[in-house]
Amino acid sequence: MSKITDIELYKLARKSAENAYAPFSGFKVGAAILTTGGDVFTGVNVENSSYGATICAERVACTKAVSEGFREFEAIAIATYGGVEASPCGMCRQFLFEFAPKLRVITGKNEDEIEVSNLDELLPKGFRL
Ligand code: THU
Repeated sequence: MSKITDIELYKLARKSAENAYAPFSGFKVGAAILTTGGDVFTGVNVENSSYGATICAERVACTKAVSEGFREFEAIAIATYGGVEASPCGMCRQFLFEFAPKLRVITGKNEDEIEVSNLDELLPKGFRL
């Protein structure tokens, strides 16, 4: 099975952003995480009237995968509905670091301008027990 490209993964993230629940910020985010076996799980930000209860798209994608039994990841793409580049927040960086310190992180305004970095560059010295 040939693996999905970074651009294809980015497009899945952007498509999923349509389902974001972001009535408070209006900032709709989608994420798509790729397992080492080639499976993809998407996620969106889900906001809450109690703002602190909000969860980011990246953590939703990752928790969906983990809850289905997948824990080894290769890449995650993040896209917004409005075409603004979004880089994972600090909490999401730490959350993803738990499973994949070398994760490839794909961001960008659109699929022609994607940027790729590694999670351990975005979160040097991430915490592990
Ligand atoms: N958000 C994400 O889902 N991922 C990011 O990478 C940045 C921030 C969400 C959280 C909140 O619902 C909205 O974007 C504005 O902060």
